[in-house]
This record gives sequence, structure tokens and C-alpha cells, in this order.
Amino acid sequence: MSRIKNHPILSIPYRECIEFFWQGNPLPALQGETISAALLANDIKILGHHHKDGAPQSIFCANGQCSQCMVIANGRPVKSCMEIIQPGMQVEPAENLPALQNVRDSAQFNPIEEIEVPVLIIGGGPAGLSASAELGKLGIHVLLVDDKHRLGGKLALQTHRFFGSTDAVFAGTRGINIATRLEKEIDQYSSIEVWRNSSVLAVFSDKKVGILRDGRTYMLVTPQVILAATGARERFLAFRGNTLPGIFGAGAFQTLVNRDLVKPANKLFIVGGGNVGLIAGYHALQAGIEVVGLIEALPECGGYKVHKDKLARMGVPIYTSHTIISANGTDGVESVTIAMVDDHFHPIPGTELSFACDSVLIAVGLESVNEFYIKAKEYNIPVFAAGDAEEIAEASAAMYSGKIKGREIAQALGIDSGTIPADWYRTGEILKSRPGIIHNDEIAIPEQGVRPVFHCTQEIPCDPCASMCPQGLIFIDPTDIRKIPAFQANEATCTGCERCITFCPGLAITLLDYRKDADFPTVAIPFEFSYEMLKTKQTVTVLDTSGQVLGDLEIVKVEQVASRDHTLVVKVRSPHEIASRIAGIRVQESNLIQPMNHYVQHIPDDTIICRCERVTAGEIRQLIRQGYRDINEIKAITRAAMGACGSKTCRSLIHRLFRDEGIFLTEVTDSTRRPISMEVPLKIFAGIDNGEVNQGE
Ligand code: FES
Repeated sequence: MSRIKNHPILSIPYRECIEFFWQGNPLPALQGETISAALLANDIKILGHHHKDGAPQSIFCANGQCSQCMVIANGRPVKSCMEIIQPGMQVEPAENLPALQNVRDSAQFNPIEEIEVPVLIIGGGPAGLSASAELGKLGIHVLLVDDKHRLGGKLALQTHRFFGSTDAVFAGTRGINIATRLEKEIDQYSSIEVWRNSSVLAVFSDKKVGILRDGRTYMLVTPQVILAATGARERFLAFRGNTLPGIFGAGAFQTLVNRDLVKPANKLFIVGGGNVGLIAGYHALQAGIEVVGLIEALPECGGYKVHKDKLARMGVPIYTSHTIISANGTDGVESVTIAMVDDHFHPIPGTELSFACDSVLIAVGLESVNEFYIKAKEYNIPVFAAGDAEEIAEASAAMYSGKIKGREIAQALGIDSGTIPADWYRTGEILKSRPGIIHNDEIAIPEQGVRPVFHCTQEIPCDPCASMCPQGLIFIDPTDIRKIPAFQANEATCTGCERCITFCPGLAITLLDYRKDADFPTVAIPFEFSYEMLKTKQTVTVLDTSGQVLGDLEIVKVEQVASRDHTLVVKVRSPHEIASRIAGIRVQESNLIQPMNHYVQHIPDDTIICRCERVTAGEIRQLIRQGYRDINEIKAITRAAMGACGSKTCRSLIHRLFRDEGIFLTEVTDSTRRPISMEVPLKIFAGIDNGEVNQGE
């Protein structure tokens, strides 16, 4: 069984065990989990085979977006990542195309319920929740619709403490706890109605919005104003073997590990050095999964330096200016091949390296889910967008943008909510900031008393260290929290309370205590792994910010304090010469990360672009070279973009193939988007809500 039984941050709740059947064989599952989680927990990774070429199919997005995880449950084709397992459920792999059910001569059509609401918020993530709270305070009736069983969006998957402003967006608090706080806050407001497990299907020209409520009842909602807080979806990447079971989007990986508490991998390789990839790597390590390496095509990782440093000093090698050539294997990932890239991002022959791993995590960027926003605009429905649906940024920025949009919506409804303070907009902009400049100046640490060392040298919006210091000794410019922190006191004033080091989201502060022995000061290091990992150890390997080993040092003490929300503090005795360079403790041994002695060659035309219909880059490229410029024609010829996911995964890749051929997208006619955002049985539109099969599905 691949379940996570211990986690340094997450508690493992008791859930009743139930039985279901996979291909007729009884298997255990936990009450309330998805079918895909139950299958992965039983080490079942292949969920079917594609009708076109028999390729094994598996979970990719875990978010209802890619449609790769289809299984047949009690006779119905369902997305296993969205459907809750039921006792006795008969689950079968989706082999080839599912057969259509028998259709009754005349189905019973039922009336569709229609309602009107002042505000419809689509998406219960950080932006949608914050906007709801703002509107709830004003007593405005809001219908908040989210397709998950739990609100919080990506916040509910984040075990790390958040960056940003402590006052404005709970910085220093873990994402999972912020989700709980926001959910509780909106529960206080009776004017907010929440529909969980409910998907918006389409925004129509008659200004009605079609919603599948609770996964089964079709409703039409007419809102006065819509807020699209629909978040983002992950970009897919073209490389050989990119659809093998074991290739995950970063969000899927976090969902499986941090929400479903299953272990989908033992050895993971990460593609993408933005915050999403870096954080997912850290989450993997916390879940006991080895991280073999991380590649980034740019010369430097795009995510926060503190996230990168954290991963590097855990023992994860980071290869910048590298790309993935292939994921290799037959029924699942067995290894990955990477290569260095030149200035034009072309792989440099002879630089290939292969690493043994069983999973590859793709974190190469996000794109806004903005289809409902665009449609509402087209049909002249008053509409706002917040969070990633408006602009891709951190969840803290999404929270703040939701708050602002909540007030703007109140104004649009003509409700007097006062003027929106100008500094809200400035804070919103600061929270959206990309990582800024890195300060390389050496700061001499006086070797006396107690001193924090800030290993955080890049300008990013973050201030918990300053707001947590009870003595007020840490200064960050309150008008611009992107500035790096500075210690502002003499040696007598720091008491060594360790609040700054335990609440720093980047784990980027250590505390040096010279009071007992100036030659061998104690270095206090924050640590977010299990206490058990250290219990039997006398020493730990300490590293600097870049992951360079400084030595094995004696553990003086490990502190585990309930009020620190699972952050341990490990104290080591260090020679004074290296004390200020110590930034972390290695958790992963370096012998994992050796490359294999061969590599698998790149065959670009074999690369799958449309995973639903198994259409390769070669097939599409050939048509582009023949002069096709209308993606609808390419779609008609190859079936690319015609599959179940509605082109959510392949559209940007087809665009990229055009660009690779030197064709500007202005010369290309884009494919027509489907009016309905996801697959639903046709009977839903007829108001048939009896859960039966064989009735016109
Ligand atoms: S993995 Fe289920 S829809 Fe993508």
C-alpha cells in the first residue's frame, strides 16, 4: 500500500475503511477519498489503455482538467480524480472507448430550476474566498460555486508557511491553515451560499450560467455580477514519453500527497524551477519521496531564491540551463533523460544525462482559467476576474486581489462600502511582485550574544520575521515589504526566543548563540521534517544556502514546541568559522542523484502533443509545413484538440509548434472553443437527476 502514514506537518485523520472492486478483485479504500486515490494507494497506476495506440493511461492533473484518468465505475465512465469511491463500487479500467449505454425510446424531461443571485463567484480558492468574505461583511448575497468537496483551492494543498504580509494575508501561516481560516470566516456570513462539488459548465448568451450542482443536478443561475476566481491550469510539455503513467502535473502531485495522503512516487524528477516546482519538491521530501533532481531551462530558477536554496540544501541537485529530452519506460516512468541547452534552448548533443526515477513532475508554468470571464464579457454580463484567473501570481496576491474585487463588486452593485483605500492597490501590486534583486553583500556578524543570520538575500514580498520579533529588532521597510530584513540592535537585546526562525516561510533564518562558548556557538536551525528522523542521530550534515556541505556537527538539542505548528528547531554546536554560513540540514543522501551510464535518444516527432487523441508532434508539424494555418483544419484532419479535455492540455503546445516553425500566431486561426467547459452526461441538461444509468447517457 502506498499511503503516507506519517507526515511532519499534516495530521493523518482516521477514516473508515471500505471495500471496492477493481476488475472484480476486492481492495481496501478509505471513506471519502477519490477513486484515483484509492487506486494509487493500492499501487494501481494504469487506469486504462488508449483506443488509438493502446498507450497506458493514468492520472495527470488530479483536478478534473485533463480527462486522462477515466475509469468505468458502476458501469459509468467517470474521471477517477473527481469521483468519490463508494462501498462496493465496481471499478474497471477504461479500455478503448467506453460503450454507449442503451437509450430508452423517450426519456423523461424534467424542468430545470432557475435562480437569480446578485453575485456569482466561480471558484472557492484564495481569491474567491477573500472576495466572498468582503461581500459577506456587507451582507450581500453571494453564491460561491466550487468544483471540489473542500474550499481553499490550492491553499488546501500547501503545507508550507506563506510569504507576503502578515497583516494583509496571514503570512507566516501554513497554506492549509489559511484555507481553514478563510472557510470558517465565510461560514459566519449568512448571506453567502456555498455550492461545493459543483461545476460551472457554461456562460450563455442569455446571461444565464449553467451549473452542475453537487455533481448531478443541472441548474441555471442568472447573476447580476460574476467574479471569475477560477485559478489557473498547468501547462503541459512536449517531450518523448510525456504521457507515461508517472508523469504528473505539480498540482496533481500536491493533491495526491498533501490532500489524499497517498505516495504516488518513490523517486521523483522535477521539470521546472519556478515556485511551483520548487515547493512541490519540498513537499515530496516531506512525504518521504526521494527527489533525484530538478531542471530549469533558464540560466537561473524563476522561483524565490529561498525556495531554491531550501531544496538545494536538502540535497536536491538543481540543473539550470537544462531541458528534459525524454521520460523512458514502457508501462510507466523508469528513467528520465535531460540535456544542457544552448542560448536558444536547443539541447546540446553530448550533454545528455539519464537518472533512474519512477515519476516526473511537470511544473513549467500556469495559464489562467479565464474562459468564463471571456464569455461573460462577450455577453455583456458585468464580470470581474481575481487571483490567477486575472494574473498568475502567488496565492497571497490572489487573496488580496479577491479582497479588492469584493469591494469593487459591491460598488458595481451600487452598495455604499466606502472608498477603497489607495494603499490596498499598492499592497496588491507588491504582493504580485516577481522575485527581485539578490543582495550579495557580506554582512559581518559580531561573534557575541545572540544574532539572527538572514539567508534571505532576494527582494520578495515577505515580512513575518519583522512582525514576529517581540523585541522589534528586525526591520523590513513597512512601506515596501520586498526589502530584505535587517537586524537593528546590539548584542544585549536579542533574547533568542526563536520566533523569527520558526515563522520564516523560507526557513531562511538561523540563530547564532555565542553566550556559552564564542569559539563553538550554538546554531539554531528550523527544520520541517519528522522528529523521528533525528531521534537516534548524534550528528547532522549542515550545508550553506547553495547546498554545499560544511560538515557533520553534533546535535545539542532538538526542540519540538506545539505553538510552532510543527516547525522543529535543531541546535548544533559549530566551529565559529562556519557558524554564520550554516543554513540548513541535509535530509537526502547524495548517492541517489548519480546519473545512469547511458541515455535515451530524443525523437521529437514521436512526442505526443494531444494526449486525449494520441496525436504526435510529427503529424501536426507535417500539416503546418504543408501550409495549414487554421487549427480547426488540423483538428479535423488529426483529431488533435478534439478529445475529452477540450484542448485544455494541447492548445498551447500546438501554438508552440507553430512558433517553432517560425510562424507568428497572428497568422494562425485558433481552434473554436467548446461552449461547455467539461464533459457531462446529456441527461443532465434534460433535468434527469436520478443517478441511474441506461437513461439516455
Ligand atoms: S487526472 Fe483526472 S482529469 Fe486530469
